[in-house]
Amino acid sequence: MRQIRLNAFDMACVGHIQHGMWTHPRDRSSDYTSLDHWVSLARLLEKGLFDGLFLADILGVYDVYEDSPAPSLRGAVQIPLIDPMALVPAMAHATTNLGFGVTCNLAYEPPFLFARRMATLDHLTNGRIGWNIVTGYLDSAARAMGFAGQMAHDDRYDLADEYMAAVYQLWEGGWQDDAVVRDRAAGVYTDPAKVRAVHHHGKQFHIDAVPLWEPSPQRTPVLYQAGASDRGRVFAALHAECVFVNGSTRANVRRIVSDLRARSAPRPMQAFVGCSVVTGRTEKEARDLLEDYRRHASVEGALAHAGSSLGIDFARFGMDEPIDASESQAVRSNVEAIAAALGQGWTRRDLIDRFVLGSRQPPIVGSPDQVADALMLWVEEGDVDGFNLSRTVMPECLETFIALVVPVLQERGVYKTGYAPGTYRQKLFGAGDRLPDGHPAASVRWKG
Ligand SMILES: Cc1cc2nc3c(=O)[nH]c(=O)nc-3n(C[C@H](O)[C@H](O)[C@H](O)COP(=O)(O)O)c2cc1C
Repeated sequence: MRQIRLNAFDMACVGHIQHGMWTHPRDRSSDYTSLDHWVSLARLLEKGLFDGLFLADILGVYDVYEDSPAPSLRGAVQIPLIDPMALVPAMAHATTNLGFGVTCNLAYEPPFLFARRMATLDHLTNGRIGWNIVTGYLDSAARAMGFAGQMAHDDRYDLADEYMAAVYQLWEGGWQDDAVVRDRAAGVYTDPAKVRAVHHHGKQFHIDAVPLWEPSPQRTPVLYQAGASDRGRVFAALHAECVFVNGSTRANVRRIVSDLRARSAPRPMQAFVGCSVVTGRTEKEARDLLEDYRRHASVEGALAHAGSSLGIDFARFGMDEPIDASESQAVRSNVEAIAAALGQGWTRRDLIDRFVLGSRQPPIVGSPDQVADALMLWVEEGDVDGFNLSRTVMPECLETFIALVVPVLQERGVYKTGYAPGTYRQKLFGAGDRLPDGHPAASVRWKG
């Protein structure tokens, strides 16, 4: 069996996926404004040989449920929230191998500014930065940026295609690899013959610019993508190296992942599925812990989150009224994942029954062996490479996972016992620092 990849799935906020967990007396997620919190998390993940820390992000408040931000504010549902990119340098400084997959919304920022910040992070992390490419799904974010509402679902992907063409040029097309000579005797830092302006003139963006930054280890960050609608898959197949798929059923995830792999072939694609784990030394210990955590789960928080990410105000539906989400302009693959898990004609009651720990993602619960069995089944039957592991009570959920489950996976020969050398891309794919030939970023590379 293939080696299992692990990312911790987190966000620069208090309540991320499992809502209400912050009310648990042992939870430390409200320390999210302290660098110590992030540095100790990064060190912990590196101790557990995690491949990466995957940071989600949004730019608007969840205000669809009850047509108000109040439920989200009350329950700390991804608000308050700070900028994930700013956390990376401190964590990178405290670690050597951990990768950082940071979500950044491309819809509201000029490509040049974003490309420079990413290149800066690629330098500062020594080639350990990744980007989860998102275009957003919140009208509240669009209004915050001065628009009446967000662009239609498929138009957002068209915008993203053009954005990618622009940032590839900025990262790959302006500087030759050996442009920086640092020749003190000759007084030449950069050979001007090896640096050029790049030009992009499209529907949305016009760029004539010399990129300001010197080539970074990976140039283009490792590219993640997390939308799996029809249009989203076309985008992912063209650009993404890793995809993040919502856990629904193993059969449904397998269908999505096989389709994505077929579309991106011969380029390899790594697939991560979202999951949460509650474990203990024995099954009983795990079940007791689940009951303890469960007393803190917030149904209101879960409805506020689901309302915005599915684009449906559940307050408008009776408990047993079938929910029609066919017109959703939010995350369509989330709508599909819920229909796959709950069956067509699902209701608000069905959804609430699924909220075990305050989200649509029911946890895997059991002894370390049982958890390892479940993860391996996902890899085999869901055809995934690894997991984006959501937090429950922090940091004990990760400490326990690393102390108890990681050794079992290692004993079974499905988890590494040391890091591979090199950049994030090299560690994940075992090949070069740069995107391979055949990827659109490689076609704009200036080799001189
Ligand atoms: C598992 C998963 C995680 C996602 N995480 C984020 C995120 O952190 N921030 C964000 O703006 N969009 C996020 N999205 C939304 C998608 O990236 C995407 O831009 C979108 O809304 C459309 O998805 P679709 O093609 O499935 O309809 C996520 C989607 C999925 C399925």
